[in-house]
Amino acid sequence: MSLYLDHLATLQRHAESALERTGHDTLLIASGIEKYAFLDDRPYLFQANPHFKHWLPLTNHPHSWLAVRPGKKPRVVYYQPDDYWHVPPSAPSGEWVDAVELVVIREPEEAAAALADCITPRTAILGEADAALPGLTPNNPEALLNLLHWARGVKSPYELEQMRAAQRRAVPGHNAARAAFLRGESEAAIHRAYLVATGHTDRDLPYSNIVGLNEHAAVLHYQYQDESPPAESRSFLIDAGAQVNGYASDITRTWAAPGHDEFAALIAAMEREQLGLVDEVREGVDYRNIHLSTHRRIARVLREAGIVNGMSDEAMVAEGVTKPFFPHGIGHLLGLLVHDVGGFMASEDGGVADKPEGHRYLRLTRPLQAGMVVTIEPGLYFIPTLLRGLRASPHAAQVDWDVVDRLSRYGGIRIEDDVACRAAGEAPENLTRDAFA
Ligand code: GLY
Ligand code: MN
Ligand code: MN
Repeated sequence: MSLYLDHLATLQRHAESALERTGHDTLLIASGIEKYAFLDDRPYLFQANPHFKHWLPLTNHPHSWLAVRPGKKPRVVYYQPDDYWHVPPSAPSGEWVDAVELVVIREPEEAAAALADCITPRTAILGEADAALPGLTPNNPEALLNLLHWARGVKSPYELEQMRAAQRRAVPGHNAARAAFLRGESEAAIHRAYLVATGHTDRDLPYSNIVGLNEHAAVLHYQYQDESPPAESRSFLIDAGAQVNGYASDITRTWAAPGHDEFAALIAAMEREQLGLVDEVREGVDYRNIHLSTHRRIARVLREAGIVNGMSDEAMVAEGVTKPFFPHGIGHLLGLLVHDVGGFMASEDGGVADKPEGHRYLRLTRPLQAGMVVTIEPGLYFIPTLLRGLRASPHAAQVDWDVVDRLSRYGGIRIEDDVACRAAGEAPENLTRDAFA
């Protein structure tokens, strides 16, 4: 059996079990609809319902539907309009076609008739409210969603293949971006080099690229791309991914320009700790502990670099001195969404696994299971507003502000890999490093 067909069989099994456990007999999934800007005739970028693209490698297919029933082939209602204004979806093709019962519709409303025989009083309909058609109103039952979201944290072999491919697609972009940085190009030109090398456009990136030179690397979600190159390019942070069949990669690299040795040494120290953190991705490990471990490792880097002096690493963590330098979470679940769902679930029945107190930006609090893909993205930044807080704190005297001022010209560092957890006792699979290698 192919990896895809095996994946489909797994989803069917999960869905049948989830339907039965929650008192449903049919699962309908709406791909979603195109939405228009207020008073305008231009649509926003279409984002497919992730439940839909979990089953089908169809990422740009609004107004389509999927019906799942126990013991039956999934039915795909495939919207392919007769449209001369746009390029309509091509004729259904790919391995999925033979695995489903296919119904092609030309108008969105035809979906209601194409699914009429699937509707029962116990039908679960997953989708955004706007996707509703007469008789097909999304009800998104919470208990069912919990089961599906929990299971989605663990990837099938097919999904891991897509995610490896999404890494391989991003790597030439990162290499091209680094080369453009070393040539002294602008953020906008670096971004364009990334797009060309990955074959992406801004429309189909899994998230907006973060391309920051110098101090801009200190802005966690820096959203601009300057067209003018800076007078001097000292440092470069790029957070950019790719997607394949609806699965994302999410990769960050930080580079120092030649001759900027102090910052290069700081990057090397962060890379050493980042690789150590990747190695902590093991089955059964509580991801919250990897986040807390990051703070201890950042403390070591701060001490070795002479940024903080006269405090033990433990004291730095306990007193919150690492937080202004590392003010985000160590990472998140990755897959059909860049920040994938289910990160805070206490169990497959729902509930919340709390964040460690005082760590509000952590996005994953579950124990790791084999087959989960997570990011490991420690950072060390010089963020003016957070440093002002530190300067006003009782620990200001432990900070060497001359070193901070020197390093602030580089903005900061983030190094992000995508990592698959393997079975107990096995080292993790670093999807990102494998692709770069
Ligand atoms: N690119 C967003 C993130 O790293 O979470
Ligand atoms: Mn990222
Ligand atoms: Mn990330």
